[in-house]
Amino acid sequence: MKFFVDTADVAEIRELQEAGLIDGVTTNPSLVLKANRPIKELLKEICDVTDGPVSGEVASIDFDGMMREGKILSEIAPNIVIKLPLTLDGLKACKKFTEQGLKTNVTLCFSANQALLAAKAGATYISPFIGRLDDTNIDGMELIADIRRIYDNYDFETQILAASIRTANHVREAALLGADVATVPPATLKTLVKHPLTDTGLKAFVADWEKTGQSIE
Ligand code: E4P
Repeated sequence: MKFFVDTADVAEIRELQEAGLIDGVTTNPSLVLKANRPIKELLKEICDVTDGPVSGEVASIDFDGMMREGKILSEIAPNIVIKLPLTLDGLKACKKFTEQGLKTNVTLCFSANQALLAAKAGATYISPFIGRLDDTNIDGMELIADIRRIYDNYDFETQILAASIRTANHVREAALLGADVATVPPATLKTLVKHPLTDTGLKAFVADWEKTGQSIE
């Protein structure tokens, strides 16, 4: 499973990239608002930090606007992935960009049928939103399982990018179900390394090593 980091905070991205924890980045308009920087300059800097796929989302909701904005975003760097909403216009734009050899991430997916349509439009990634479904008392993981099964049934190459991840358990479950990628907020990503038994075990080893009086160097 690949890990993308779900943020537009360049310092966080750099730290996680240097630690070798991430394979790419996803952004959205809300994350750009939080970063409070011009989008083109921001995405360029993110693409300088990582060679992995960097999703930049269009702001328009009509086909022509998406086509114009997607082209501009794609020219920022070769690793830009054009993020498009799961609407009829978004799917139409996805098909066009795919025909042009550009990579796409179809976002705001909340049903298996939507995911099927995105795959038929040639999307590189489909982003089912787990946390937001859980918020409405619908099990987001069932959607991941359904999409996995449908894509496998028809050999679709579209990658399942589990999004709106809120907990370490979301990551574990999405991995068990065969999601290709999880996009995870930086704080959640850092919790994946934690286990109390690792901490107590390490403390005991450090104490015993000191008692040996040895030095490896
Ligand atoms: C990423 O592609 C999505 O935009 C993001 O995961 C949404 O997360 P949220 O539901 O926590 O805003």
